[in-house]
Amino acid sequence: MSLTNRLNELRELAAPLESSSATRIARLQQAGEHAERFLESLPECEVYAAAGPREEAIDAFAIPVDPESFGVALRVLDQYVDGIGHNLGSSRFFAYIPSGGLHDAAIADYLAAVSNRYSGVGAAAPGATRLEHAMLRWLADVVGYPDTAEGDLTSGGSMAALSAVVAAREANNIKSGDVPSAVVYLTAHTHHTFRKALHVGGLGECMMREIPLDANMRMDCDRLRESIRQDQKSGLQPWLIGATAGTTDTGSVDPLDRIADIAAESKVWMHVDAAYGGAFALCDEGRRRLKGIERSDSLILDPHKGFFLPCGIGVLLVRNGQQLYDAFHARGAYMQDVAGDTERSPCDYSAELTRPTRGLRFWLPFKVHGSGAFAAALEEKLLLAEYFYDECGEIPGIKLGPRPDLSIVTFRFCPESADADVASRSLLKAIHNDGRVFMTSTTIAGQFTIRMAILTYHTHLEDIDLALQVIKECTVTIGRT
Ligand SMILES: Cc1ncc(COP(=O)(O)O)c(C=O)c1O
Repeated sequence: MSLTNRLNELRELAAPLESSSATRIARLQQAGEHAERFLESLPECEVYAAAGPREEAIDAFAIPVDPESFGVALRVLDQYVDGIGHNLGSSRFFAYIPSGGLHDAAIADYLAAVSNRYSGVGAAAPGATRLEHAMLRWLADVVGYPDTAEGDLTSGGSMAALSAVVAAREANNIKSGDVPSAVVYLTAHTHHTFRKALHVGGLGECMMREIPLDANMRMDCDRLRESIRQDQKSGLQPWLIGATAGTTDTGSVDPLDRIADIAAESKVWMHVDAAYGGAFALCDEGRRRLKGIERSDSLILDPHKGFFLPCGIGVLLVRNGQQLYDAFHARGAYMQDVAGDTERSPCDYSAELTRPTRGLRFWLPFKVHGSGAFAAALEEKLLLAEYFYDECGEIPGIKLGPRPDLSIVTFRFCPESADADVASRSLLKAIHNDGRVFMTSTTIAGQFTIRMAILTYHTHLEDIDLALQVIKECTVTIGRT
């Protein structure tokens, strides 16, 4: 066969990849109807649904050589993906840290993928990269960072933390030989991904000082100051404090203003994990509770948590943006055509080069709803947590953790006649069996503790009342058995 004939044959075989306008419109219609069925099912959906047999699903996912219809593909999604496991879109999801999944962000993802701008490099996608930068600048203003701040939109908090510790490492000139005497300060409630970031960033062998927590589960600042002083006296190199604005265990906010004082006087980099709590800076009450965050050297904040976006977006902000640039700027010869370009390039602030246009899913929901709607939803969550705390404390046998700093409430079931750990486990199991709401547990000071995390945008008073009713009913049922 001649080359031309073979090319023609291959072109014909590959032709389905070039879908027509009519096909695209029809598929979007089908996808839209599929999405609507899912969204409309949320009020009554199971918040947690177990998966069916694994082999059956794997068979359904098998890749055919010849095409199958779009409808078949959607049916596979429907049966084997959409409704299985945790349903983050439910207003009755109170587990871990909820992630809302605003619909406008899904539309933005679609539009970003359609236009497929190369948003790692400014010259390639000036519009997309300017949009991302505008969102970073806006967020820097929200948290009170100065104009010098720079940042990056990442896939989530873990990657943002990794970039943060690398920036801190470079800014502090920590070389591999310095690692064993370099000291990091954190608490038992620092998110595990911060330790993981240190490990991945070549800093896992730093000395880790676990600063005790106070009665409100916040970092004890007197102990922090004392620990840094001791280490400095011993000739060690204190260089990084990992503070948290909203721990995953209890939602506690470390005393950020006091930590900022200590970091300034001891010349230690202050990083704040605000992956969960940072979004509350958007409302007045939340900003008050996060006071001091604006004095940190770096912070992370996950829009896929407190800004209710679908999973897949985190933010890193570094107060002195030059430090982030210095840690990540790199070029190859094949990029020489854009050398000297004055557009800001995200790849200069990140380990990534090719990446999706993450800014669009962040920008569109804020553009079409306004930041006021988000601020209201976040203040509502703070108030719902207080309401839940007060009402839950009235249920016989329930012993509450500290009053919530943000929107997570912890509690145990401590009936007089039973071991509290056993009773609390039984209560959570009963809540899971009931199925109307979903919450999870943690261990605090060796004690099994149930967590109620309130963060989904469409969680309202009636959902909290339902959770209280389920807890009440389950404690009674357990009491009888
Ligand atoms: C306080 C906190 N920090 C960091 C992370 C890690 O973020 P991600 O899961 O987006 O990587 C989480 C995740 O839940 C978190 O709650």
